[in-house]
Amino acid sequence: MIYETIISTIDTNGKPHVTPFGVQKKDNLYVIAPFKPSTTLENIMSTQCAVMNLTDDVRVFAGAIVHQQVYDLLPATKLQGFRLATTLAHHELQLVEVLEDAERPHLLMQSIYQETHQPFAGFNRAQAAVIELAVLASRLSRLPQEKILSERAYLQIAIDKTAGERELQAWQWLVEKIDNYYAEQTGLNQA
Ligand SMILES: Cc1cc2nc3c(=O)[nH]c(=O)nc-3n(C[C@H](O)[C@H](O)[C@H](O)COP(=O)(O)O)c2cc1C
Repeated sequence: MIYETIISTIDTNGKPHVTPFGVQKKDNLYVIAPFKPSTTLENIMSTQCAVMNLTDDVRVFAGAIVHQQVYDLLPATKLQGFRLATTLAHHELQLVEVLEDAERPHLLMQSIYQETHQPFAGFNRAQAAVIELAVLASRLSRLPQEKILSERAYLQIAIDKTAGERELQAWQWLVEKIDNYYAEQTGLNQA
């Protein structure tokens, strides 16, 4: 099973970096698999730790892809680093093993501290739709345009039926990013 999370790391100067990662639970370890190059990978390799945030605020997922910061950070409890202030829960992770790979190494991490801050509010289809579109929007150069636009049209149904304000904001950012990307591509082709 893979959980879509927000991973926050710091560099050697303490500067935070916050971005979405699908995290796999394997036995008692959490596995993060960043494609190279990755700031998250560099930060974890140099600090040996990360914070995994479990949040239903999908603006944080979309915001990372469109470079919009919508969150505040609070210091982690046991590790040097930060968690999202409004996260439902967080785990503080320590690196225990690296499975090297030229393209996508696997970082095996142990949770040394976890805390729940708010209860899970239930599933929401628009939140799932935003996560799906955020994944597509983070792979614009690697996926065919037709696939991205047809999947977006399908995901729009859940947005229209079930979104709240946060989901609508996140969706709008992603739609603009995708449309701008293809407009630029068309411009380049015509130039
Ligand atoms: C829901 C979601 C899950 C993602 N999971 C991964 C992942 O497992 N590995 C990865 O390399 N990028 C993943 N991404 C893309 C990264 O968040 C994004 O490309 C990011 O910039 C990673 O590079 P960075 O560490 O330099 O920030 C995911 C994006 C989304 C929206």
